Amino acid sequence: MLVIFLGPPGVGKGTQAKMASVKTGLPQISTGDILREAVKARTPLGMEAKGYMDSGKLVPDDLVKKLLTERLARPDCAGGAILDGFPRNISQVRYLEGLRAPANNGTTRVVSFELTEAELLKRLTGRRVCKKCGMMYHIMFNPPLNDGICDTCGGELYQRDDDKEDVIRARMDVYRKDTEPVIAYYSGKGLLRTVSAAGTQEEVGRRVEEALK
Ligand code: AP5
Repeated sequence: MLVIFLGPPGVGKGTQAKMASVKTGLPQISTGDILREAVKARTPLGMEAKGYMDSGKLVPDDLVKKLLTERLARPDCAGGAILDGFPRNISQVRYLEGLRAPANNGTTRVVSFELTEAELLKRLTGRRVCKKCGMMYHIMFNPPLNDGICDTCGGELYQRDDDKEDVIRARMDVYRKDTEPVIAYYSGKGLLRTVSAAGTQEEVGRRVEEALK
C-alpha cells in the first residue's frame, strides 16, 4: 500500500508522516530529506539539486523519479510506504502509477493537509532542525529544552536554507502551480481525504488515523 501525504510547504507532512510511520510500521520516504542528505554529502545528485532547492523550485523530475525508484526497491518497502513529498506534479503521478515495485500493489491512500497561509508562514519561519540526527523543532510550538541544542542527541539546530521568507513565497507559488493539480487529480479518482492541519500534532495525528481507516 502506498500512502501519499500532500499539502503546502510547512503544513506538517513530515511531522505527520513520522508519526504515521510509527503507528503503521510503514517507512516514511521524504524526497526532501533524501535530497538534503545528498546536498550535505556533496554527491553529484546533491550538487545538481542544491540550486533548485535553494531557490524553491522543484528538482528536475528525472532525478527525483530515480531516487524514489531506488528507495522503493529496498526491502523495508515490501509492504508499502508513506510518501512525503512525492508526487509533486502530474508527471510524477503518472510515473508512480506505472512504477513496478512490491510497495505499489494497487492500494493507494492520499491525504491532503490544509492550513491557512499565515499559519504556514509561522510554522516555516520557526522551524529548526538538528544537524546531527534530523530531529525537528519549532521555536514557538515545539522548542528544545536548551536554545539551539537538540534534546535527543545534543546536536546543533539550524534553519533550512529554503525557510527564508522569499524562498518560502517561491515554494508556495510552485505548490499552487504544480502540486494543486495533483490534489485535483486524486480527488477526481475518489482517493483523496482532506485533513485540517490546524491544532496540535496529536490532534492532527488523530485526524490522519481516521482518514487512513
Ligand atoms: P520538502 O522537504 O518536501 O519541503 P516541503 O514540501 O516544502 O515541506 P516541508 O518539509 O517544508 O514541510 P512539512 O509539510 O513537511 O512540515 P513539517 O512537518 O516539517 O522539499 C524541499 C525541496 O526539495 C523542494 O522545494 C524541492 O526543491 C525538493 N523536492 C522535494 N521533493 C521533490 C519532488 N518530489 N520533486 C521535485 N523536487 C522535490 O513542519 C513544519 C514546522 O511546523 C516544524 O517546525 C514542525 O515542528 C511544526 N509543526 C508541525 N506540525 C505542527 C502542529 N500541528 N502545530 C504546530 N507546529 C507544527
